[in-house]
Amino acid sequence: MRVKDAINIEDLHKLAKRRLPKVAFDFIEGGLEDERGLERNRAAFHKYHLLPRYLVDVSVRDQSQTIFGHKFSCPFGISPTGGAGLYRRGADLMLAEAAADTNIPYIMSGASNDSIESAARVAPNHAWYQLYAAKDGAISDDLIRRVADAGLAALVLTVDVPVHSKRERNIRNGFANIRGNWVKAALSLKPSLLAEAMTHPGWVVEYIRHGGTPALENWLPYAGPNAAPEDTVQFNRAQVPAHAQTWKDLERYRRLFPRKLIVKGILHPADAVRAAEIGCDGVIVSNHGARQLDQAPASLDMLPAVKAAVGDRMTVMLDSGIRRGADILIALCLGADFCFFGRPTLYGAAAGGIAGVQKAIDIFRGEIDLVMGQIGCPSLDRLGPDFLWQEDSWPRNR
Ligand SMILES: Cc1cc2nc3c(=O)[nH]c(=O)nc-3n(C[C@H](O)[C@H](O)[C@H](O)COP(=O)(O)O)c2cc1C
Repeated sequence: MRVKDAINIEDLHKLAKRRLPKVAFDFIEGGLEDERGLERNRAAFHKYHLLPRYLVDVSVRDQSQTIFGHKFSCPFGISPTGGAGLYRRGADLMLAEAAADTNIPYIMSGASNDSIESAARVAPNHAWYQLYAAKDGAISDDLIRRVADAGLAALVLTVDVPVHSKRERNIRNGFANIRGNWVKAALSLKPSLLAEAMTHPGWVVEYIRHGGTPALENWLPYAGPNAAPEDTVQFNRAQVPAHAQTWKDLERYRRLFPRKLIVKGILHPADAVRAAEIGCDGVIVSNHGARQLDQAPASLDMLPAVKAAVGDRMTVMLDSGIRRGADILIALCLGADFCFFGRPTLYGAAAGGIAGVQKAIDIFRGEIDLVMGQIGCPSLDRLGPDFLWQEDSWPRNR
């Protein structure tokens, strides 16, 4: 199968798996510890069914959605995914470009390989930046200044990484070794890595041709004038996460950043309320794709409570576990204003570069369009609990 033949996200997933060595693929794919959260994220969507209404004119179906004053063509965008250049060189800018081309938002990761300034060049109206605060507050503040100076519309603070998580796949695979120099690691440290290299020549040739591990370009100015790419990775690892970050810091970021400020990784409704009180413009209800706390609830399960707590005071968005267009419609029925996904577009980038990213976006857009037609919903503002069916709650609780 080739990227152009993929008909769903699972196909892109398979193609990415085929192209990447296990150590790299597992970093995208994995959760942490027993990986129960991954199943929970999918199961949360499966609890809901969509109850169709018929004899509705669905000849024109509009899936555009306006948030933060921008009318996006779809109700979804691309979540921040760090180290994307390791899976496909230049992936950050491919994600940015595909997002701009299709008029959806792209959140550049705080651990991106490409820079804030380059994202602003490629996608001036569609790139947002996700901040991982540094232990050195001056670095965080400088990153915020750069995002503001580059003119990006939104800053997204990720709060669900107070400490690193125990990602057992990566420990077993020796992922830490390939952050430095994969070829050296393959030759000297793990014979299994060498075997992987030989069976994934496309990826290895790209890795070597580009001189090994990609730098975290945003961190070059802070890692020192002669920093090699792997030094930026090590420096970032020493600075992030900022274990001592608190709400006081969020108040400071609010003062520093003049445009939309979004908090990502919120699960408790009271945290969302506190973010609203500080003047944040939005939250992304998220469990980081089940990569931080294996016992965390699915973000979809927390969405109704978060929405009830903040009402219309801020924009409520969601990610974690979305693999179908119908998942996005379910989240919108439960009160989300907008959705994001991380792995699907990364599978696309790994499998086929920008064409793969575009393919992932097209798959979601196409599925949403068909499901809107099927359930009798010509525009997203009609969505709500009335379209949802759950075994235990309908019709008894209406
Ligand atoms: C490979 C990978 C890297 C990620 N890197 C970041 C990151 O740098 N910053 C961040 O806030 N979230 C990061 N995330 C989490 C995503 O932003 C998002 O919350 C998650 O992927 C959503 O779940 P999904 O993959 O099921 O869509 C990462 C996720 C993956 C899979």
